[in-house]
Order: sequence, then structure tokens, then C-alpha cells
Amino acid sequence: MRYAEITGWGKALPPTVLTNADLEQLVDTSDDWITARTGIKERRIANGEATEMAEVASRHALAAAGLQSEQLDLILLATCSPESLVPASASYLQARLEAVNAGAMDLNANCSGFVYSYVTATALIAAGVADRILVVGVEKLSFITNYLDRNTAILFGDGAGAVIIEATEEPVGLMASELGVDGTTTELLCTPVDGTRGVPGPRDPATSSITLQGQEVFRRAVRMMSESGAAVVRDAGWDLDDVDLLVPHQANQRIIDAAARRLGLDSSKVFTNIHAYGNTSSATVPIALTEALEQGRVAPGDKLVFAAFGGGLTWAAAAVQWGARVEPISTSDAALPKTDKSVMEVLKPNLDFFQKGGR
Ligand code: ACO
Repeated sequence: MRYAEITGWGKALPPTVLTNADLEQLVDTSDDWITARTGIKERRIANGEATEMAEVASRHALAAAGLQSEQLDLILLATCSPESLVPASASYLQARLEAVNAGAMDLNANCSGFVYSYVTATALIAAGVADRILVVGVEKLSFITNYLDRNTAILFGDGAGAVIIEATEEPVGLMASELGVDGTTTELLCTPVDGTRGVPGPRDPATSSITLQGQEVFRRAVRMMSESGAAVVRDAGWDLDDVDLLVPHQANQRIIDAAARRLGLDSSKVFTNIHAYGNTSSATVPIALTEALEQGRVAPGDKLVFAAFGGGLTWAAAAVQWGARVEPISTSDAALPKTDKSVMEVLKPNLDFFQKGGR
């Protein structure tokens, strides 16, 4: 039987930091409120294109796997903030990486997008369609976040994470998965009009930012992340006690804590970095996985659970048997360019746009 092992991992975070103190200057909020309600202290704002972040994360993942980009068979890019509708962002990334032998496509399942993509990529490897796949989660949520709306401005940030998965005969990688959606609840978390839906027209600040019914999404996130997490543990033939590390979507520290409590997992078995980056949607899980590896939180043979939840409303969970290697084969010096601009200068186009009529 063909399995698919995670052999490389990487991340890219823009250097520009938006702190809670910065947000206090933009909306009626406070560091205390944001910290107590979400666990977030700061987030990153991109000063370049999304696929620039994806490229840096991918170069680190390729180096960690000891691969060259021309060895890739496929690029699967998860995003809900693509650079364009045509082409898919994966095409831009393929060109940046010069991955001349790869196919490339985007997959959008909002914050669940990386886990959906990881499961899809594993299935493609198991089916013999591909041997080596780059799976990326990348978001430039600052494009669709109204930083003058305190309900959402505090939550979202930009970033990218990437993994390489490769075919192996060893019984490692994805052991069980659950992919779910309740498409009757789309209005709880959406950008009301920011695509081809409805009457075509110029981008309208009143309908082009993320809207969120926070409490309802919160409740559903806790329920679906814990239920789908428990389901994949059971389907993998594991006990919850066997789980070494939960790598959850980072939407809110309280959601993570409540989901872990329901799963009966001690906080020492849960990886969080939400304080530093906020919610980067499909990028949270691969960034968190990369940092867990960097911090020595993953040991050879560990049993991991990925669990995500997001717009759609979608959810996804994966039981992942880690392989023997937790160190990168090689490293890359790829990095995002530094900027002299202040965070408010980087945010200026966003603030100008939403000042014109955002909610
Ligand atoms: N600063 C200060 N006060 C605020 C802020 C703010 N930024 N935002 C809201 N408040 C106020 C409200 O107006 C309300 O005041 P009131 O009691 O006078 O009416 C009070 O604080 C409480 O508001 P709630 O909305 O009840 O606050 P809650 O504890 O639910 O936290 C939050 C809000 C952080 C948005 C939370 O509901 C949440 O995290 N929800 C889930 C988000 C999520 O999971 N997203 C998942 C995926 S995202 C994706 O797919 C793109």
C-alpha cells in the first residue's frame, strides 16, 4: 500500500507587525479585551503578494525535504484570498518556484483549506497520481479584512505555511480523516459579495470584507473541531491518550482551549501560536506544524491530530502518524523582503478603501 509522509515543512510571516496597541488607534477596543477574548497579541500584514509568502514557505519546505522544485509532481495551494480568479494562485507559485514538472491548482475550503488539501494530496499519492506534492496554505486576509471593523479587525492576519508530502511504503502519514461542511450556514462567516455572485460591479467596500457572527461560529467551531478530532482518532484505531500533539486551526485561544477540553487533551498536548499571528485561515495549521517541529514538540513516531474549522462552514480533521525524521535535511535562506514602512503605511490602501463605505 502507498502512504504519504510529510518530509518537509516551512513558513513565511511578513515582517510588518500589527499589535493590539495599533488596533487601539483604529477602533474602539483594548489590548485587555482582545487578549482575554481571543489570546491574540499581534498579527502580521503583508506588504507584497500572497504567492511571495507562499514561495518563501515552499522554499523552506523543499529544503527540509532535501528536494529541488523540479522534482515536484503537483502544487496544491489552499487559499480564500487568491491573487486572482484567473489564473489560480498556484500558477503564480509554480512560476516563482520554477517547478517545471508540476501541475498546480488552488483549493478553497476557507480556514479548513490546508487540512482539506493535505487529505486530497495524500489521496492522490495513494492512488498513484503523484509521488511528490507541495501543499501550501497561504492567506493575504488583510485584503478582505476591514481594519476599521472591530468585530473582525482584531482576528485576522497574513502568512503562509507549506509541507512536502512524498510516497512511501512505510505506514506513516494520514491514518484517518474527516471533511465536513454545512453549506446552509454560509452567512455566519463570509465576504457577502466579492466574486461573481450577484450583479457585477466594482469592488464595494460595504460588501467586500469578512463579516462574522462570532458567537455562533465560536460554538460550532468548538463542537466540530472536537467531534471531528475524536472521530479521526477513533477511525485511526487510536485512543485519545495516544495523541501526542493536537495542531489546531488558530482562530481563538478560547476555541482551542474548549475543543481540547472536550477531547480530554491536556494543554501540554496542544500547540498554539495564535498570540503571535492571529487567524491566518488556511495558513494556521502548516505554520503551527512548522513551529512545533522547530521547537522540538514533535518526536519520531508521534501521533498528531490536525483540526480546522472555517467559512463555509467547513471543518476538517486528520490523524497523522509522524515518520522517523523531525529534523530538516537542509535549510534555505529564503526570506521576505524587509520594509521601512510603518504598519499604518502598509495598511493605508486598506484603510482608504474601507473608509469609503465599509460597515
Ligand atoms: N473590542 C472591544 N469590545 C468588543 C470588540 C472589540 N474588538 N468586539 C466586540 N466587542 C464587544 C461587543 O460589542 C459586545 O458588547 P455588548 O456586550 O455591549 O454588546 C461584547 O464586546 C461581547 O461581544 P461578543 O461578540 O459576545 O464577544 P465574544 O466573546 O463572542 O468574542 C469573537 C468575539 C472574538 C469574534 C469570538 O466570538 C470568536 O472568536 N468567534 C469565532 C471566530 C472564528 O472561529 N472564526 C473561525 C474561522 S475564520 C475563517 O474561516 C476566515
